Amino acid sequence: METVEASAEATTRTHGIKLHKPEDFEGMRRAGKLAAECLDMLTPHVVPGANTEALDKLAREFVLDHGGLPACLGYRGYNHTVCISPNHVVCHGIPGERNLRDGDIVNIDVTVIVDGWHGDTSRMYPVGEIAPKARRLIDITYEALDLGLAQVKPGNTFGDIGWAIQQYVESQRCSVVRDFCGHGLGRVFHDNPNVLHFGRKGEGAVLKPGMFFTVEPMVNLGKPQVKVLNDGWTAVTRDKSLSSQCEHSVGVTEDGIEIFTASPLFRPKF
Ligand code: MF3
Ligand code: CO
Ligand code: CO
Repeated sequence: METVEASAEATTRTHGIKLHKPEDFEGMRRAGKLAAECLDMLTPHVVPGANTEALDKLAREFVLDHGGLPACLGYRGYNHTVCISPNHVVCHGIPGERNLRDGDIVNIDVTVIVDGWHGDTSRMYPVGEIAPKARRLIDITYEALDLGLAQVKPGNTFGDIGWAIQQYVESQRCSVVRDFCGHGLGRVFHDNPNVLHFGRKGEGAVLKPGMFFTVEPMVNLGKPQVKVLNDGWTAVTRDKSLSSQCEHSVGVTEDGIEIFTASPLFRPKF
């Protein structure tokens, strides 16, 4: 195991990936918990007719009231607390005038900062009654995340995570989006490495205790290609097929994984 002595500023890195100290886990735990609680709080509000801008306001006030800062507010010109991505929106949907409709499936993604640490998580919300194919897509996405996270332990590689996700998703005749990936995080929102949701066993950097990153697969019912709309943010499937995503922030421990953004409400029950 690599250790870090000396000042609070010191950080060891392998392949440009920070190795955090045991005490840094506590910071991530608090940030991850608040992010998860924000998504928990939204659950009863994600109903037919709900306005997406109003959901964003609920999230912003919740985060601020609980000692956090919304990381996305002002991030690269983004002006909201959450991203809300319905149906064929892959990610980075902007809250606004749109009201949710019965049958929508919606991803809500929030990142909070607590004492300088980032907690980043997203999950799927069914709005009212959803179609069986939508339900199936959501189930596949959560299963894919679980399989990816099951690879997180010292000695495995980032390629093992991507491989586990890709082989499962494709076995279900769905596709993995390539244009967006997970990322290192900690005191920085988007840090090294890029965490790909596809790949080959044994490729990529080796996982070591103290690495913090997200896994956030985007899964499409149709083809993997996406395009970004003129607003510069909203990513949609090119073939208009349904898309789904879920995200956890995790840390590599001495013998496995700690999921900082876990919640009993994370995976919707159908
Ligand atoms: N939370 C997103 C992620 O998973 C990033 C959103 S950036 C924003 O990495 F600016 F669009 F909010
Ligand atoms: Co993320
Ligand atoms: Co996110």
